[in-house]
Formats: sequence, structure tokens, C-alpha cells
Amino acid sequence: MLSARNLEVVYDDVVLALRGVSIDIPDGEIIALLGSNGAGKTTLLRALTGLLDVHDAEITKGRVTLDEQPIHHLAPERIVRRGVRQVLEGRRVFVEMSIEDNLRTGAHTLRSEMATNMERVYDLFPVLRERRSRTAGYLSGGEQQMLAIGRAMMSSPRYLLLDEPTLGLAPKLVETIRDVILEINKAGTGVLLIEQNATMALSIASHGYVMETGRVVLDKPATRLLADDDIREFYLGLHPGEDGRKSFREVKHYRRKKRWSA
Ligand SMILES: Nc1ncnc2c1ncn2[C@@H]1O[C@H](COP(=O)(O)OP(=O)(O)OP(=O)(O)O)[C@@H](O)[C@H]1O
Ligand SMILES: [Mg+2]
Repeated sequence: MLSARNLEVVYDDVVLALRGVSIDIPDGEIIALLGSNGAGKTTLLRALTGLLDVHDAEITKGRVTLDEQPIHHLAPERIVRRGVRQVLEGRRVFVEMSIEDNLRTGAHTLRSEMATNMERVYDLFPVLRERRSRTAGYLSGGEQQMLAIGRAMMSSPRYLLLDEPTLGLAPKLVETIRDVILEINKAGTGVLLIEQNATMALSIASHGYVMETGRVVLDKPATRLLADDDIREFYLGLHPGEDGRKSFREVKHYRRKKRWSA
């Protein structure tokens, strides 16, 4: 089990971004992490994968544990070797490299199984196999997201942590990514899924957490989060009976506004 316990994180010595967050990602489960802009979701993912330093942030209280052993003092690469792998927000791929070379870079911690894992990734994303020698920069947004997930899978992670993998994708691609997450999970990988698309995330998760201003404000089985109209309305921005796709667009719209005004 991968866990955060009473985690407090501060940026630049002043911005308190996490105020005592505890979550559990059990082996082989899908856990949804929801919450509005600035709630602290990405910060939590950085804390789980040792990437706080890069952003001038540090853990000031609490800990991150893997099978009850603290891991937050480890370098990011060591954490990857322990089986915890993240896909950062925004489809980060090497745009000037081919698809296949991108996948190779994903295997730096596990070269011995490169060929097998590459076949697995191509089975998950046949479109990447077809275009294996093409430059990644020419792929569509959805294909780049597939490649980013594929790169992460090259280290056969025990836990895959995804930061808003469907953001800005057309509904059909959202479905593709959803199916792939399910398939990855079926093969045994535990998943932490950060999403603005609450309906999608909760439809495949066993458990969900909702964050607000650096705290977990709700922590319930996914079916209960989805079924409760008050929760849907107040915390997830979904109105009772509303179709998830429409609300996703609304959330995205809100998000764009935020980005532009930032
Ligand atoms: N590099 C940084 N330096 C300083 N403060 C930061 C930095 N990154 C995030 N923060 C602050 O930490 C808080 C949590 O931000 P975070 O990005 O973790 O939220 P989020 O839930 O991922 O939001 P979003 O939905 O917009 O991705 C916010 O107040 C944000 O302004
Ligand atoms: Mg974020």
C-alpha cells in the first residue's frame, strides 16, 4: 500500500499547500482524487513521487510510506525503482524524439524487460505501434497522452499516478483513456487518478477522495460519492441527474478561464 499520512507541504517556505492530508492507495485498486483548481492534488502527487524539491517545496509534517516504510526522503528515481510512477499533467513527451525512443527513455529503470514492456504498451495503444517511428511532436493531444502513459508503463509500475490524463480531450478519447486505465489496473497496477472529470473517475474507481484548499474533505467509496446528490452538486460540480459529459465541459470551461486570468 502507498500512503500519505498527515502530510503538510509548503512551497517557497511560505505557501501552505497541503494541510495534513492522508490517503491510501491499496495495491491493485483505482483511487480517484478530485477537487477544484488549487486544492492541492498535483502537490500531493509530487509529494508521493519525490518531486517537491524541483518545485521549491518541502514536507514539513507527516510522511509518505510504501508498505509502511517511509519513502519521502528518497530521490525520485529511487521511488520509481520501488514501483511508484507518475504521469505529470500536460502530456510530457519528448517532442523531437520518435515514439519508440520516447518509450525507451521510459525504461531507464528497467532495461532488462524493455522488449516485453514495449510490446505490452503497443498492445494497449495499437495506434502507437503503427506510428512507432514517427516524431512524437506530430501526434495529436490524445496520442501524446497515450505515449506519456505508455512511457510510464515501461517501468512496470506497481502504482501509476495520473494527473488529469483526460484534460482537454474529446469524449471519444476520454473513453479510450478510461478503458486503458481499466486494462492497466486489471493487469495488477494500482492507480491514483486525479481528474476534473469526476463522473468518469468515480465510474472506474473503488474509492474517492475530494480535496479543498489543502485538505481532504471527503473520503468515501466511489459509488457513494456518485450517488449522493449533495456531494455531486457541492463538491463535484455535477448537478443532480446531469449528464457527465456536459459537466466536464463546464469544468473545462471554468478551468480555461482560470488559466487565462492567471
Ligand atoms: N510551484 C509552486 N510554487 C508555489 N506555489 C505553488 C506551486 N505549485 C502549486 N502551488 C500552490 O499550491 C496550491 C495547490 O496547488 P496544486 O497545483 O497542487 O493544486 P491542484 O489541485 O493540482 O490544482 P489544479 O486543478 O489547478 O491542477 C495552490 O495554492 C497553488 O497556488
Ligand atoms: Mg493540478
